Amino acid sequence: MVDVVCAGLPPDGARIHADVSVRAGGSAVNAAFSAAEAGATATVIGRVGSDPSGNFVVATLEERGIEAQLARDPDHTTGAAVAFGSSVVAHRGANAHLSSADIPELLVADALLVSGFALFQGGSTQAARAALERLDGRWAAVDLATPKLARAAKLDEVATIANVILATAEEAHAATGAADEEEAARILAARFAVACVKLGEQGAIAVQADNLERAKATPVARSSPFGAGDAFAGALLVALSRGEPLSRALELGCEAGARSAAAQVLGR
Ligand SMILES: Nc1ncnc2c1ncn2[C@@H]1O[C@H](COP(=O)(O)OP(=O)(O)OP(=O)(O)O)[C@@H](O)[C@H]1O
Ligand SMILES: [Mg+2]
Repeated sequence: MVDVVCAGLPPDGARIHADVSVRAGGSAVNAAFSAAEAGATATVIGRVGSDPSGNFVVATLEERGIEAQLARDPDHTTGAAVAFGSSVVAHRGANAHLSSADIPELLVADALLVSGFALFQGGSTQAARAALERLDGRWAAVDLATPKLARAAKLDEVATIANVILATAEEAHAATGAADEEEAARILAARFAVACVKLGEQGAIAVQADNLERAKATPVARSSPFGAGDAFAGALLVALSRGEPLSRALELGCEAGARSAAAQVLGR
């Protein structure tokens, strides 16, 4: 995706001057930034358009030392999202046409993150499933993406191909029916080896078997509605891959989420 971030929504019809940032984004790219920051080798697999926005995503990844395995869609543009404060307009573009042929036959990695936007939305489901099935590695993670997608997700099916589930409190509630975030995390952990419930500026919970860990965040003012959850996922998965205990992995995930949440709009 290409993300355009504006601090807020101007009044209808107004033309104003304000900071606007344009950056490569989307779950995979954001999580890869975070994994690379944690010192890991990261690869982004996906689909972009045959357009300058696609070139921009590829160039940004190259600059950060992240491998880009991006198919070029001949007919659809690179996905884009525009944020006005916390309001977002998104266009999936080429992302909605990610095909199984775009996924390597074998994904050899310590960890894989698949976004729920890819797994649970039409057009890319088969490819997202293929990625999880083709992983030759320890951690196969799925992020539930939105409460609406979480509500419709077939968790039993997801659990046959993934062993880490990531959800916000609202998504965890939508997926499990449990109002209490700890209970929701435990319900998810009955199906997945590791279940995380992200709580924004309050930090996050992680459950592995009977072990429930909670990490508190130091609240920061958010500069963009994009990326904190993805940064959390990238750092958490790198830590789990290194064999860090769950408590430490959760802490590192929360720190990465907070850094991403606070990152200055023009600074990234
Ligand atoms: N304002 C904040 N202050 C401190 N830490 C934060 C803040 N926002 C997010 N984080 C950290 O990042 C993690 C992920 O953020 P969040 O809970 O918002 O998940 P998300 O909704 O999936 O992400 P996003 O809002 O980017 O889509 C949180 O668990 C927390 O540790
Ligand atoms: Mg959030």
